[in-house]
Amino acid sequence: MTAATRTQVGIIGAGPAGLLLAHLLHRAGIETVVLESRRREEVEGTVRAGVLEQGTVDLLRESGVGARLDREAAFHRGIYLRFDGQTRHLDMRALTGRSVTVYPQQEVVKDLFAAREAVQGATRFGVEGVALHDIASSRPAISFRDAAGTHRIECDFIAGCDGAHGLTRHALPQGALARFERTYPFGWLGISVEAPPSSDELIYATHERGFALVSTRSAVLQRMYFQCDPGADPASFDDARIWEELRMRLSTRDGWRPIEGRITQKVVVGMRSLVFEPMRVGSVFLAGDAAHVVPPTGAKGLNLAAADVRVLSRAIASHYNDRDDALLDRYSETCLRRVWKAQRFSWWLTTLMHRAEGDAPFDRRRQLAELDYVTTSRAAMTAFAENYTGLPFEEVSREAISER
Ligand code: FAD
Ligand code: PHB
Repeated sequence: MTAATRTQVGIIGAGPAGLLLAHLLHRAGIETVVLESRRREEVEGTVRAGVLEQGTVDLLRESGVGARLDREAAFHRGIYLRFDGQTRHLDMRALTGRSVTVYPQQEVVKDLFAAREAVQGATRFGVEGVALHDIASSRPAISFRDAAGTHRIECDFIAGCDGAHGLTRHALPQGALARFERTYPFGWLGISVEAPPSSDELIYATHERGFALVSTRSAVLQRMYFQCDPGADPASFDDARIWEELRMRLSTRDGWRPIEGRITQKVVVGMRSLVFEPMRVGSVFLAGDAAHVVPPTGAKGLNLAAADVRVLSRAIASHYNDRDDALLDRYSETCLRRVWKAQRFSWWLTTLMHRAEGDAPFDRRRQLAELDYVTTSRAAMTAFAENYTGLPFEEVSREAISER
C-alpha cells in the first residue's frame, strides 16, 4: 500500500543545497520534506569542498548555523600562486575586504543536519526509486520506497538538489533543458594527509608537470591535489610517487617542500564545466550541482549551491507570505547570471593553471605571462580576488521586476 502525505516543498537530496534550502525555508515558516538516497553517515563522511566564499559564510551566520564555523574555520587573508619556481601572494582581504574561509563541506552538512534535527524537520535517508509526478501542475508529487514501504508526497513545489548524478533532471520532459558543457583532458588526484599544515594559506601551483594544490582541513589533517589523467585509478598511485609529484610540482628556488604524513584517502575527480538551462520547469526547481557543475579549481561549486538556494528560498517565501510569484518567475534568470560568471572564472583559472597534452611552448609562455600579470597589476589582482572571494549576490529589485 502507498502511504500519501503532503508538504509544501519536497526536496530531493540532502547535500549542501538541499539541507540549506530546507533550513532557510523552515526559518520562513515553510514546511519541507528532504529525501536522500544515501545513509546519513555516508553523506556526512563524503570529503569534498574546503573553501567558502564570504557570502556563503555570511548566509550561514545570518541564518543561525555559523557558530561552529566561527569557532573552527580558518580565515585566510588570501592565497599563494606558485609558478616558475616563485611564490606570489594575493592578499584578497586588502583587495576586496573579504576573506577566504576554509571550513570543510562535511562540517557545513553536519551543522545543517543538527539545525534540522533541532526543529524536527523531516529527512528520509536511504530512499529508493524516487519518481516525480504531475510536474506541469501546481500539485506535483514525489513517490519513493524505503524500508517501511512505498510513499507518495504531494507538494506545491519540488526542489531538485540531487547533485550532478541525480534523477530530477532526467525526470523532466525531453527537450525541456538545454545542456552547455566542456570537459577537460585532466582530473585531480586528491589526498587526505595526517600532518600539520604545510602553509599558512592555500597554494595553487603550476609546473611543467602540471597543476598542484595545497589545502588544509585542520591542525592535524591536510588536503592536497595534483593534476592527473581523469581515468586514472587512485590505487595506482603509491605514496612515494604522490610525494615525489607534489615535491616536484611545488618546488621553489629556495627549496620549499610539503610536510609529509600518512595518506588516509586517495580519490580521482574528473573536471567539467556543465550548465543546464533553465533552472525551473513547471513546479520543479533545480539547485546546486543538479543544475551546474564547475571544475574545482575556482572552489565555486558549494558556493553556487548556497547562492541558488538563497534566491530560491526568498522566492518561495514571497509566494507564500506575499502572494507574489515575481521572484519565482525570475529564479532561473537570477541564478544563471551568477552561475555563468562563476563558470567563466572556474574555466579561466583551470586553463591558466593546468597543462594539457599537445599544448605548444607558446601556450606555456602565455600562461606564465598571464600569471605574472595577475600577480602584479592591481586591477588584475582585484578582478581575481573579487571572483575568488565571491561576486555579490544580485538582488532583483521590485522596480526591475515591474519594468518587464
Ligand atoms: P551534492 O553535494 O552532490 O548533494 C546531492 C545529494 O543528493 C547527495 O547527498 C546525493 O546522495 C543525493 N541524491 C542523488 N540522487 C538522489 C536520488 N535519486 N534520490 C535522493 N537523493 C539523491 N565547492 C566549493 O564551493 N569550494 C570548494 O573548495 C570545492 N572543492 C571541491 C573539491 C572537490 C575534489 C570536489 C569533487 C568538489 C568541490 N567543490 C567545491 C564542489 C562541491 O563539493 C559541490 O559543488 C557541492 O557538493 C554541491 O552540493 P549539492 O548539494 O548541489 O550536491
Ligand atoms: C579543498 O580544500 O578541497 C579545495 C580547496 C580549493 C579548491 C578546491 C578544493 O579550489
